[in-house]
Amino acid sequence: MEDSRYHPKTGLLLGWYDAERRILPWREDPTPYHVWISEIMLQQTRVDTVIPYYERFLSELPDVRALAEAPEDRLLKLWQGLGYYSRVRNMQKAARQVVERYGGKIPDQPKELEKLAGIGEYTAAAIASIAYQVRVPSVDGNLLRVFARTTGYEESVRTPEAKKAAQAYFLELLPEDRPGDVNQALMDLGATICLPNGAPDCGRCPWQDCCEAHRTGREAELPLREEKKARAVDRKTVLVIRTGGRYVIRRRGPKGLLAGLYEFPNEEGWLSEAEAAEACRRLGLEPAGIRRLADAKHIFTHREWHMRGYAVDAKPASPAEGLLQATADELAKTYSIPTAFSAYLPDRG
Ligand code: ADE
Repeated sequence: MEDSRYHPKTGLLLGWYDAERRILPWREDPTPYHVWISEIMLQQTRVDTVIPYYERFLSELPDVRALAEAPEDRLLKLWQGLGYYSRVRNMQKAARQVVERYGGKIPDQPKELEKLAGIGEYTAAAIASIAYQVRVPSVDGNLLRVFARTTGYEESVRTPEAKKAAQAYFLELLPEDRPGDVNQALMDLGATICLPNGAPDCGRCPWQDCCEAHRTGREAELPLREEKKARAVDRKTVLVIRTGGRYVIRRRGPKGLLAGLYEFPNEEGWLSEAEAAEACRRLGLEPAGIRRLADAKHIFTHREWHMRGYAVDAKPASPAEGLLQATADELAKTYSIPTAFSAYLPDRG
């Protein structure tokens, strides 16, 4: 079944599609007009419902000009029962735009198609790839689900980043000669095998041996759909302690955020000046002077640090175990101090 001209997953998919694809009227003669009408009808409507409407619509309005010129009553009658009438009104508007701006020829580039009424990114990609063999993935909710499962995508698919990641992934799979068939194969896969609500039929899937969700038994869990979680906010107090011209630092533990890097001693929560002085003493250092520094914020992917800082002049002493002392120059050159602390780094000298 595999064809070495193709990416292995593309070969498997097309082999399956050639044997198992659904017989659908718009696939028999996929002109731009036919693909366009079918894609608009298929928005929010099931394939079985669409078929008779599609055939009736085309026998009455066989091309773009006929659609552009159709009386509104005819149009609405042809659409009756499909619902969302703005779809058919937009189609006629777009047909008129095609006649006026493009001499009746439906454009082949996705960006041009998207300028027409009622044609968004997905529909533009479907028309360009199926009717014109342009290599552009048509990613809708079904393809996002297939993407999340086959790659084991661990983030929510309800984000612009997920859509971009899916588009980049599927673009790699699109061959020069059959991009539209790969898009349609993915649509069929999503509609007949890689079903939503945790009910995929993996035993019949051409990708069962190269699907990350199937390999790890997570096909019922993926895709994730939750809204993006708010980042956790940590309040911290950073102690910039100087003893005899050197700064007190310590090394972070070997696990977790910023593992193994160096940092100024810091405490959970926002400490008062008296509490900060007390925290210094716990580090074995007696404060001689203490002053508040500007607050600072650092944003990580999943956390935010909201920091309060104190500059402490401490009497020379031997600090507690695990603490190091470094000059400003050494802080800059020798120790890796994460950017999160950069607001508290001294000027060098
Ligand atoms: N759903 C949307 N577009 C489709 C197509 N071209 N084939 C099958 N199902 C679809």
